[in-house]
Amino acid sequence: MSFINKIILFFATKLPKSIIKLFAMRYVAGESALNAIKTAKRLNDKGFSVTLDILGEHVKTQKEAIAITDEYVELFKLLYQFKIDGNISIKPSHIGLDISVLEFEKNLSRIVKSAADTGNFLRIDMESSLSTDQTIISTLKYQKLYNKIGTVIQAYLFRTIHDIDKLNENDLLNIRLCKGIYKESNKIAIQSRYKINENYLKIVDKIMDKNGFIGLATHDLNLIKNLYKKIKNRNYPNDKFEFQVLYGVPMGSWLKKNLENNFKTRVYIPFGPNWYDYSIRRLKENPNIAGYILQNIFNR
Ligand code: FDA
Repeated sequence: MSFINKIILFFATKLPKSIIKLFAMRYVAGESALNAIKTAKRLNDKGFSVTLDILGEHVKTQKEAIAITDEYVELFKLLYQFKIDGNISIKPSHIGLDISVLEFEKNLSRIVKSAADTGNFLRIDMESSLSTDQTIISTLKYQKLYNKIGTVIQAYLFRTIHDIDKLNENDLLNIRLCKGIYKESNKIAIQSRYKINENYLKIVDKIMDKNGFIGLATHDLNLIKNLYKKIKNRNYPNDKFEFQVLYGVPMGSWLKKNLENNFKTRVYIPFGPNWYDYSIRRLKENPNIAGYILQNIFNR
């Protein structure tokens, strides 16, 4: 992040939350499930699929983990009821992984049951490297009980290319591939942006070699151009991949191009009262953050 962007973000985060909300909410579809469903419907009407995520992570008590699990169980029912073309993404630490593996899996099994009852798909987001092993173990375990489950892998981790073999254990390879958002040490993660992109493409090749399903989650237009080439060169079938983007990240004309090519595109829609940390993370990734914040503060 440039120095000027850092200064603007520093002062912006000192503003009252009600002001921050004005510009932070572009990345979040409101605070309630019904708001998120409305956004999902609007995006479905434009030709996009969605995945819904209730904001929050690292819950500390069993009571909180159960409450979030209840919300996810209900959310699958809402997706079904409103005929939304969309699934759900969850974070392990949001449903109890920091409390215990037992607590996490107890809650996960209820969410998996709700996915199965509504015939929908569940994506388990990948958090920091502290939870990579457990996320993979639980994904494979529950995939054996219900096959519409997949997790996420991160191109910045050295281990990721090898994890693909393990993730294919049930012959149900269904992966979202992203660059990775957490701060990881250079002992376990690639630090150069260029090399992360190189690894991203290598990982795509390995998944394609295994005929797996890939959610290509990135906003990086250079990388996307290379992905377009790869899909074309390998003649990879349209039902074996989709592009994925985060709600609110500007993509210019590229999203339209995707639809014209008949490439499925899924928008990740986070919502909920815990919007603050997530939105600040997204603002930090925005290269035009200074202009964007100033424009929003002074235009209102
Ligand atoms: P990069 O950060 O290089 O951004 C490329 C370009 O996109 C930028 O130059 C800018 O133009 C634009 N851009 C990116 N972010 C922007 C923003 N906030 N505002 C405005 N413009 C922006 N990570 C993880 O560790 N575990 C996970 O489970 C997931 N899940 C996930 C799902 C989906 C659908 C996506 C798209 C991403 C994730 N991620 C994630 C986050 C991911 O690891 C990564 O941190 C971000 O996607 C940013 O990386 P890019 O690939 O977009 O490239």
